[in-house]
Amino acid sequence: MEKVLRHIPFVDLKTGFAPIKADIMKALESVLEDMRLYLGPHSREFEKEFARYCGTNDAVGVGSGTEALLFALLAVGIKSGDEVITTTHSFFATVEAIVAAGAIPVLVDIDPLTYTIDPGEIEKKITRKTRAIVPVHLYGQMADMDPIAEIARKRGISIVEDACQAHGALYRDKKAGSIGDAGCFSFYCTKNLGAYGEGGMVTTNDPALADRVRLYRNHGHRSKFEHAVFGYNGRLDEMQAAILRIKLKYLDENNARRRGAAERYDALLRETPLTLPQEAPLRSHVYHLYVVRSKKRDALRAFLEEKGVGTGIHYKKPIHLQEAARGLGYGSGNCPHAEAACDEILSLPMYPELDEESQEYIADCIKAFYGA
Ligand SMILES: Cc1ncc(COP(=O)(O)O)c(C=O)c1O
Repeated sequence: MEKVLRHIPFVDLKTGFAPIKADIMKALESVLEDMRLYLGPHSREFEKEFARYCGTNDAVGVGSGTEALLFALLAVGIKSGDEVITTTHSFFATVEAIVAAGAIPVLVDIDPLTYTIDPGEIEKKITRKTRAIVPVHLYGQMADMDPIAEIARKRGISIVEDACQAHGALYRDKKAGSIGDAGCFSFYCTKNLGAYGEGGMVTTNDPALADRVRLYRNHGHRSKFEHAVFGYNGRLDEMQAAILRIKLKYLDENNARRRGAAERYDALLRETPLTLPQEAPLRSHVYHLYVVRSKKRDALRAFLEEKGVGTGIHYKKPIHLQEAARGLGYGSGNCPHAEAACDEILSLPMYPELDEESQEYIADCIKAFYGA
């Protein structure tokens, strides 16, 4: 075990900025000189480029991943009293968007191997009121889309993919965001494709759906003085679009570097008592997060912290047990796999620039914790 205490942050945005700094500064300067601050040329081009990347006909830039989910749900026709099925193990915003659309979130358990929604549990929760399923492609790995698409097709239910953590992930040869009626992306700064502020995108093959999202994101404006629907201020900022156009060029390379880092972790940690992430059949994982599992999670996390290694927990309490969800009537034991996972999961440092030496140090610390 190395004596020197190192500092390895959980995420490192500064190292990724350095090589693209000159291009970013030039792009920002051009936006500021032009003073087209939203719905300008960068937003329009970025929408086309991102749609092409995802393999969809269209993409609509919005202000955040949360807005992407809300506008997509409204655009597929979700209204007050409808039921929308999703996973209890996600970032809270997945369910916030469902509630904001006026619907009742129906929260189901996960498949314990991938931590993504269990299609068998979806089937059990379908009622006459079910209008949509929101599978979440968690940690960079897509949900099991074949059975989900089959359930939706049989029942005439919409699919709104939460792809906020899965830019570039694949299911068979399909990119995240290209299978459902709509795909929703976040460009939060730490995501695989991250802005230097907020941003989001809705991808779709349906021109009418894209049109409705364009209305919702901009106060329902059909033209300057005409409002077709009651919408929102939910546009993608032009400076963020200019930044994201530059960063999109590096997305595949950065995803490959994340996959390389995951492979190194797999090899370094194979002999430890940790449960390592699994890449399920048919899927290509882009490792937004590298999540391990330990019965001694909290002690291990404190030990790593002492050794200068930053970690995260995604997430510590499932959504059905959150105070905000009390009125939905769930309790402990309703989603046993998610509840068990929340007590044991730990996210190790993961970013494209994470180097081999840092990963060896992290692995040495973990082995020292287990007394190997
Ligand atoms: C799974 C998931 N859904 C939704 C969101 C919401 O995205 P945003 O923070 O851009 O609103 C995030 C990210 O933060 C996320 O990880």
